[in-house]
Amino acid sequence: MYEKIIKADLGADVKIIDLRTDTISKPTQEMREAMYVAELGDDVYGEDPTVIELERRCAELLGKEDAVFLVSGTMANLIAIMVHCPIRGSEVISGDKSHTFRLEQGGASQIAGIQTVTLKNKEDGTFDLDELRDKIRKNPDIHEPISSLILVENTHNLCGGKVLPLEWLEKVNHIAGEHNIPIHMDGARLMNAATYLKVTPRRVVRDVDSVCFCLSKGLGCPVGAILCGNSQFIAKARRVRKVLGGGWRQAGVLAAAGLVAIDTMIDRLKIDHEHAYEIAKAIHQTRSNLFKVQLSKVQTNILLMYIDTTKVDIRELQRRLQTVMDSDEVRASVRCSSLKSNCVRFVLYHEITDEDVTNAIRKIQLIISCDSYFLDYLGGTIADLKSPVAWVDLKEVETNIIKLYYRHPSRGIAEFSRRLREIEEGDPVKVSLVVSARSGMDYLRLATYWEITDEDTRLAAMKLVYVIEEFGRNFVSKI
Ligand SMILES: Cc1ncc(COP(=O)(O)O)c(C=O)c1O
Repeated sequence: MYEKIIKADLGADVKIIDLRTDTISKPTQEMREAMYVAELGDDVYGEDPTVIELERRCAELLGKEDAVFLVSGTMANLIAIMVHCPIRGSEVISGDKSHTFRLEQGGASQIAGIQTVTLKNKEDGTFDLDELRDKIRKNPDIHEPISSLILVENTHNLCGGKVLPLEWLEKVNHIAGEHNIPIHMDGARLMNAATYLKVTPRRVVRDVDSVCFCLSKGLGCPVGAILCGNSQFIAKARRVRKVLGGGWRQAGVLAAAGLVAIDTMIDRLKIDHEHAYEIAKAIHQTRSNLFKVQLSKVQTNILLMYIDTTKVDIRELQRRLQTVMDSDEVRASVRCSSLKSNCVRFVLYHEITDEDVTNAIRKIQLIISCDSYFLDYLGGTIADLKSPVAWVDLKEVETNIIKLYYRHPSRGIAEFSRRLREIEEGDPVKVSLVVSARSGMDYLRLATYWEITDEDTRLAAMKLVYVIEEFGRNFVSKI
């Protein structure tokens, strides 16, 4: 999942466009300067003025009583769970695609003796509220764990950067209130959610008791996350942070970047969202059957491209996107990640420029576009032949499949497809063309996929023309 980049083999003219994740974003010049001059103290003693200022500003931004500055989102979620669930054998209710459940090593159980029960995440990052009601244990008896926390994620990473609807959050809040259970929001990309909804961050978190957000993702800081809640909660969080080894000393050097981030990096997130949408639109416009996006569902800075994995190997696709061949006109190495088995993920952040987006699109299109060349060139060549033996109906051509109709008085479709596969002495085109043909059918299927190059398509067309003409001669002489 998290593969390291080997830069060695790339030519000097190649630009790496790294869209694996927004955590690789680097601090801006303004952040670096602020870090250099930051006023510092020992944060474990509560004496770092820059940390104090960052925590105050963040609590204010989110409309919560207090905040604590932490090393990471993972630590923030774990601390939130531990504070909300002080009794071993407690239970957290969370979506089954949540980062906390899937990608944080099961920290709640590993470290705190807390179990997670999951609800099926819907595509939009929510889960079913009846199922939530059902999962809450009312008056648990001696056999049962104690339902102690509901966890939501906003934006939802594995659901493709989806933003939780405010009305849904309000309903979760009502259910939680009926059972006196707190809600924690993993808002690693909370500011992206607020940007998408065009509301203040404090409105997005109105219905939850605690929330964390990352400074180190789309906001560009080198390190850091913020956890907010009421004063009592944050006092306990500071204590848990210490036992986890997260008490840090002159942390103001990092908090200084955080202050710049909340002042300068939130308003620009909409650019990342536009960039993600632009890439999605370009993929959508190829009308490929193999590579698809749900254009109307691209909301923030994360874009999932779904892949027909019966035809395309995801690792190979990633490798091809990264590779720049000598013959490639686009000199861009595009990186993406594969967090799920049927899609790759592109994530946008502040260092990805308009030009990078244009080049990433050209590179992705280069790989997808083999479909259209195949259809136009191969379909067109066969149609132009006007052979009574084999023909295509260009109107019914799908994006990556051509139906090649076949009719011959004495030579069956199996013989025709065998002849395409075999290379006989004297054949001018030394190509073995493998197609799908079933006896009893009146057509063969010619399907392309991303590894079929334009050159392959031209060779396939030559072989087809040769064999169709050969069978046509035979056909005419029989009549
Ligand atoms: C939704 C979500 N929550 C939490 C985290 C963990 O953040 P960190 O990498 O700072 O531990 C991530 C990281 O990608 C995330 O996407």
